[in-house]
Amino acid sequence: MPRELPTGIDVDKQALYEQSFNELKALLEDTQDNLTRMVTITAILKHNLPSYFWAGFYLVKRGRLEIGPYQGTLGCLYIDFGRGVCGAVAADKKTRIVADVHQYDGHIACDSRSQSEIVVPVMDRCGELMAVFDVDSDQLDQFDAIDQQYLERIMAHFFAGD
Ligand code: SME
Repeated sequence: MPRELPTGIDVDKQALYEQSFNELKALLEDTQDNLTRMVTITAILKHNLPSYFWAGFYLVKRGRLEIGPYQGTLGCLYIDFGRGVCGAVAADKKTRIVADVHQYDGHIACDSRSQSEIVVPVMDRCGELMAVFDVDSDQLDQFDAIDQQYLERIMAHFFAGD
């Protein structure tokens, strides 16, 4: 069971992200290849974080988002900028946390079991948007500032070179 600190911080989730980040640094230290990085990040996080039902990248291609490496049930293939949670993040490059996807106007339901979601922008070394990383849970209200902090750090480390 997750233990709660007085501040409400979920220490177990934090520990799982910390461990996952360390595993990824060790696994990916010898590669600069973005595809290798994306499939490995997706596999490690989906396997290690119990709240993850679907996790994956949508890539900026041909002026829209196109499906990239993911783990989970069938994802939508194409998302226009500005559409759904992913398209909104791609448009303004700001992370979104959605506690209940049914309350989000314009949410795109690739799988009706998805209940809550976090999407973070993925920037390249030139500061350009190259992708978004989308995580869905089949439970309500599964994502918070800890997910945001670690996912933004992981993406910045492996794709922006921070
Ligand atoms: N729910 C997302 C679409 C992607 S799938 O959930 C995998 C959205 O509204 O952008």
